[in-house]
Amino acid sequence: MNGRQVAAFAPAKINLALHVTGQRDDGYHLLDSLVMFADVGDTVRLSDAPEMSLEVTGPRAAGVPADRRNLCWKAAEAYGCAVAMTLDKHLPAAAGIGGGSSDAAAVLRAMEELYGRPAPVDPVTLGADVPVCMVGHAARMSGIGDHVLPLFMAPMYAVLVNPGVEVPTPAVFKALSRKDNPPMSEMPEGGGQAAALDWLGAQRNDLQDPAIALQPVIGDVLAALAELAGARLVRMSGSGATCFALFDDRPAADAAAAQMQQARPGWWSAACTLR
Ligand code: C5P
Repeated sequence: MNGRQVAAFAPAKINLALHVTGQRDDGYHLLDSLVMFADVGDTVRLSDAPEMSLEVTGPRAAGVPADRRNLCWKAAEAYGCAVAMTLDKHLPAAAGIGGGSSDAAAVLRAMEELYGRPAPVDPVTLGADVPVCMVGHAARMSGIGDHVLPLFMAPMYAVLVNPGVEVPTPAVFKALSRKDNPPMSEMPEGGGQAAALDWLGAQRNDLQDPAIALQPVIGDVLAALAELAGARLVRMSGSGATCFALFDDRPAADAAAAQMQQARPGWWSAACTLR
């Protein structure tokens, strides 16, 4: 038995834009999404063990299953080895920032490091966001999430806010009125951050309106983010309820997050750098 412990960071996944461009016969939706990853997230630690186990710790551990319902457990099972896992949970669950998917990708990456061979499983079988989470940095995601094109992008600076309501992804997709929306427009190749922000402003999250219809508080979060000094762009991530605002630099994002924490102590919020 290999007694080594391996740790892997599971960053929050942010959909800077998320266009729903169609629907397959099996019900899954076709997406076109620009994804980046934050420096806030969960951490998984694992070591080889005679049988599978999972302990969930950290500030967001409450309510997170510590058994085979957890995607970490499913990922380890799919890899095919028994491990003792600890999941240090910092991200809100069912929040549109890929908490469970990023945790599963971190488990697969940690197991690849521990056992020295690639995961014998197609990550999309664990969830549509798991392939992009395996990349873990800026990427364009298409298909149902199974096509991932890694991108070189300058870092972005954001404040993330979640109002504490869980939004079930299938319900949001179901509430979507049009499923054949246009894809993202051509991304600018130069022009720095200003061009990137202009381009992003012209893109959408097609799940934002249906998510607000299901959970109107998401509209309040977007309004509160838009009020923050220096906010350049405000949008929802994934199927919600987490929303983000983008800022010119990290100090502006840090100041805005402090302002948000004071104004809305009941909401989860964090400043972050996206890569
Ligand atoms: O794959 P994942 O478990 O993250 O997806 C949760 C649900 O979201 C799916 O069961 C499906 O209803 C919906 N979904 C979809 N199209 C996608 C991804 C997810 O309809 N591309």
